[in-house]
Amino acid sequence: MENSYCRWVLVCSVLALCLGSRGARCQLAPNFYHNTCPQLYYIVQHHVFAAMRAEMRMGASLLRLHFHDCFVNGCDASILLDGTDGEKFAKPNLNSVRGYEVIDAIKADLESVCPEVVSCADIVALAASYGVLFSGGPYYNVLLGRKDGLVANQSGADNGLPSPFEPIDSIIQKFGAVGLNTTDVVVLSGTYVRFMGATLSSYMLK
Ligand SMILES: *[C@@H]1O[C@H](CO)[C@@H](O)[C@H](O)[C@H]1NC(C)=O
Ligand SMILES: *[C@@H]1O[C@H](CO)[C@@H](O)[C@H](O)[C@H]1NC(C)=O
Repeated sequence: MENSYCRWVLVCSVLALCLGSRGARCQLAPNFYHNTCPQLYYIVQHHVFAAMRAEMRMGASLLRLHFHDCFVNGCDASILLDGTDGEKFAKPNLNSVRGYEVIDAIKADLESVCPEVVSCADIVALAASYGVLFSGGPYYNVLLGRKDGLVANQSGADNGLPSPFEPIDSIIQKFGAVGLNTTDVVVLSGTYVRFMGATLSSYMLK
């Protein structure tokens, strides 16, 4: 099972996040795992770097995985849930979303150093940011402390995700429905195309 680690620790992660160093408020913060899992950044970087060294396109795929997760009921890693009625098997995702194995490898390593602490939703968000960075894109600070969703929403994925064959007005409207504007349409569509053709950035060759 591709996401077995993520499923096992789902409930525990949710609890750990709320009882963690930030107290009961569960507010997103850049240093959310500072005390509970300081190895987080290194482990995510390591795996994303290795995956992209094997295949550069994985950077773009990790961003798309994050984007397609967030579009449906928020950034809750529900795209990882197995089950043919899940988002993973929705038309816009089936056989096109990639990178599940990178997320699983990160989660497996995290479980050995700080078990049941880091949510899969945060791993997906962080992995996407390193995918962007290692592709030569900007660094952006990722706020952490998301909780993992317990249910997937396949019809939400089928209806809510934009299709490349759709008129631009309809795509803009779908982005608008999740609080994103036309700049976001250009960034997420444009960077995806750019990453697909990217070669090793100078960052990776250092
Ligand atoms: C599923 O997603 C759709 C579209 O985003 C949304 O309207 C609906 O409320 C979601 N259903 C559940 C059960 O979350
Ligand atoms: C979209 O939102 C971002 C972030 O708030 C903002 O910087 C940008 O100017 C907005 N773009 C448009 C076209 O309104």
